[in-house]
Amino acid sequence: MDIMDAISKRRSVRKFIDKDIGRDILEKIIGAGVMAPSPKNMQNWKFIVVSGAKKGEMLDIMKKGIENIKTIDQLSEGREYFIASLEHTMGIMKEAPVTVFVINTANKHVLGQTMQEKFYEMANIQAIGAAIQNMLIAACGYGIGSLWISDIFFAYYDFCKWFNTDDQLVAAVSFGYFEDTVRRKKRKKLEEVVEWR
Ligand SMILES: Cc1cc2nc3c(=O)[nH]c(=O)nc-3n(C[C@H](O)[C@H](O)[C@H](O)COP(=O)(O)O)c2cc1C
Repeated sequence: MDIMDAISKRRSVRKFIDKDIGRDILEKIIGAGVMAPSPKNMQNWKFIVVSGAKKGEMLDIMKKGIENIKTIDQLSEGREYFIASLEHTMGIMKEAPVTVFVINTANKHVLGQTMQEKFYEMANIQAIGAAIQNMLIAACGYGIGSLWISDIFFAYYDFCKWFNTDDQLVAAVSFGYFEDTVRRKKRKKLEEVVEWR
C-alpha cells in the first residue's frame, strides 16, 4: 500500500469481527512501532499485549475504574455522556481480540519532576506517540483496524498495579479485523492549523 494511501485510509475502528490476529502479524505491527524515532534512540517503551483469557482481568480493571469515576461528585457537567463514552470504550476493548498497552519505561508516574525530567518525559511520550502511529498504519496495511485509547487513564493505578510497574502508562491500542464500513472523519482545513512564516 502506498504510504499516503495508508495514512489516509487509517481510521479509528470501534466495531470488530470475531477473528483472532496471528502472533506473526502482531509482531510485525509492534515491529513497525519500534521503528519509530525516539530521543537519542533510547527506545524507552514497552508493549504489553493482552489477549485471550487475560482480557477478562483487563475488563475487570476498566469496570472498577468506571465505577470509581461514578462516585466522584465534581463530574457534574456532561456526566452521563462522559460515563457512557467510557463504557463504550470498554465495550470496544471487550470486542477487540487484542489490546496493547504502551508504557514509558523512563518516567515514573510521580509528580514534582525537575524541568529536565519533564522535558525528557515530553520527548519520550512523543516517541511513543510515533510508535503507536506506526503500529496503526502497519495494522491498516494488514487490513486490521485499531483504536488508540486513553480512557484507560480512569483505571490508571489499577492497570499499573496489574502490570507490576511504577513506570508511566501512556496509552492502549485495541486491534481487530473489521468490516470496512467505517467512514473517515473530517479534518480542519490546513489554513486553520498552519501558519506559514
Ligand atoms: C491520544 C488519543 C487518545 C484517544 N482515546 C480514545 C478513547 O479512549 N476512546 C475512543 O473511542 N477513541 C479514542 N481516540 C480516538 C479519537 O477519538 C479519534 O482518533 C478521532 O475522533 C479521529 O478519528 P479517526 O481516528 O477515525 O481519524 C483517541 C485518539 C488519540 C490520538
